[in-house]
Amino acid sequence: MKQRLASKLKRSRYEHCLGVAETAAFLAGRFGVNPEQARIAGLLHDCAREFSNDMMIAEAEKRGLDFGPVERAMPLLLHAPLGGVRAAELYDVQDPAVQQAISRHTVGGSQMTPLDKIIYFADMIEPGRDYPRVESLRRLSRDAGLNEMVLAGLSQSIAFVLHKNHLIHPDTVLARNEILLEG
Ligand SMILES: [Fe+2]
Ligand SMILES: [Fe+2]
Repeated sequence: MKQRLASKLKRSRYEHCLGVAETAAFLAGRFGVNPEQARIAGLLHDCAREFSNDMMIAEAEKRGLDFGPVERAMPLLLHAPLGGVRAAELYDVQDPAVQQAISRHTVGGSQMTPLDKIIYFADMIEPGRDYPRVESLRRLSRDAGLNEMVLAGLSQSIAFVLHKNHLIHPDTVLARNEILLEG
């Protein structure tokens, strides 16, 4: 898997994927998630970044993925759901839980499983990431509960997108609301 992925992605992105796999395995240990699923989903989460931005819509349509106006405006978002399909196509990952975690790693989703949450968060804090609030999120990865941790990640992501004046994906709002409503 690693060999194939390394041949498809530029080096810095491949290294990011290794970082997400390691971080996801660590979080899996903390939260009682299957570490093998976490490692594989982490490794492959960005596998569809092999497609250029202007191919995303065509590749998604070719596979019958259904998506909304936000993806149409920001096709790069499609690398997540496309990655879920690609994991099966190219890496023989048949586990639907792993496919789902990959497909939700960028904007979240409704009723996120612990595996979904771990991959979403690992992508934000793997060792190669560097942005102003990353250290405080890393601290949560060590001492917060799963929902508290992911809530901070979803909020950070919405705040970032808001600040940039970009579209907010409804699934991110949905995921955040659900966690808040769960209390
Ligand atoms: Fe990604
Ligand atoms: Fe990523």
